[in-house]
Amino acid sequence: MRAITVLPGIACSARLEEVPEPAQSDGAVLVRTLALGVCGTDREILNGSYGFAPPGQQRLVLGHESLGVVETAPDRCGLVPGDLVVGVVRRPDPEPCVACAVGEWDMCRNGRYTERGIKERHGYGAERFRIEPEFAIKIDPELGVLGVLLEPASILAKAWDHIERVGHRARAWQPKILLITGAGPIGLLAALMGMQRDLDVHVLDHNKGGPKEAIVRDLGGTYHSEPSALERLAPDILIECTGAPAVIRACLEATSAAGIVCLTGVTEPAKMFEFDIGGFNRTTVLDNNVVFGTVNANRRHYEMAADALARADKAWLRRLITRSAPLERWSEALEHRKGDIKVIIDFRT
Ligand code: BGC
Repeated sequence: MRAITVLPGIACSARLEEVPEPAQSDGAVLVRTLALGVCGTDREILNGSYGFAPPGQQRLVLGHESLGVVETAPDRCGLVPGDLVVGVVRRPDPEPCVACAVGEWDMCRNGRYTERGIKERHGYGAERFRIEPEFAIKIDPELGVLGVLLEPASILAKAWDHIERVGHRARAWQPKILLITGAGPIGLLAALMGMQRDLDVHVLDHNKGGPKEAIVRDLGGTYHSEPSALERLAPDILIECTGAPAVIRACLEATSAAGIVCLTGVTEPAKMFEFDIGGFNRTTVLDNNVVFGTVNANRRHYEMAADALARADKAWLRRLITRSAPLERWSEALEHRKGDIKVIIDFRT
């Protein structure tokens, strides 16, 4: 079968090549891949700045945003041939730590977790993959190819889960205004989940006049392209989805009192900025603000995300997938093109 593989740590080493059928040790369920989403993490792996091959191997099969159809599954495992499934990315560390021991591998404490397509485990970017039934999420068949949005949506389901836990530290928490920075797939899925919570949703992005503006408007939110929105809005919740240092700095003191800033972007280190730590500390303490980071998702979050996608307007979701490349031209999916939101590799063509 064909798979997209890469030599982690080496830029421009990715290629589509013949590889052996998936190992039985990957899991009892055999899945035929339908589509694979690409994101910033994949680009970092391709440029050699992130990613780790499985122990004892040189190349890593890329891909962590999966969608496939079950070909074979053991009896009574909850899955049958024909089911549409998405694979969970992370696997618990072998120890396991206290978090992994209770199924919260997204909160792994010792960093020895593995991730499919990212860290020490082959990904889903192959014509077929195997998976353990407990790490395969069955999705609403009506979603069809939109199911490829489940993995990025799981990241936001976790972000919202944690925002709400932080918010409820105060008995009278009643958030009204939500601001999201960045109208990429993560920002737009954050906005969708904000609408589903009846919030007044605002999205700030540097793009003027592209498709993103209409997508936010048609969701019922307000789109801003002027950075002054950050100073004006005083949101109760701010979800930062750009990972851009200058934006992050502006977000840190932009909420109203008892505000929550949730950071979701993975920034490359070593960008130096002047920053008034004393002022930030004073505002954060006197206003009871919380700034926190979030990454990855556990099974509960995938299920919450599956529910959010099932309740979403499918025509709206479809607009998030702006481009698709067939497997033979997989590298086109990783190019940055104007107007891109989520780009996928189509394994059916
Ligand atoms: C993935 C997460 C993963 C993170 C760090 C993200 O792109 O969506 O599942 O934990 O990268 O490797």
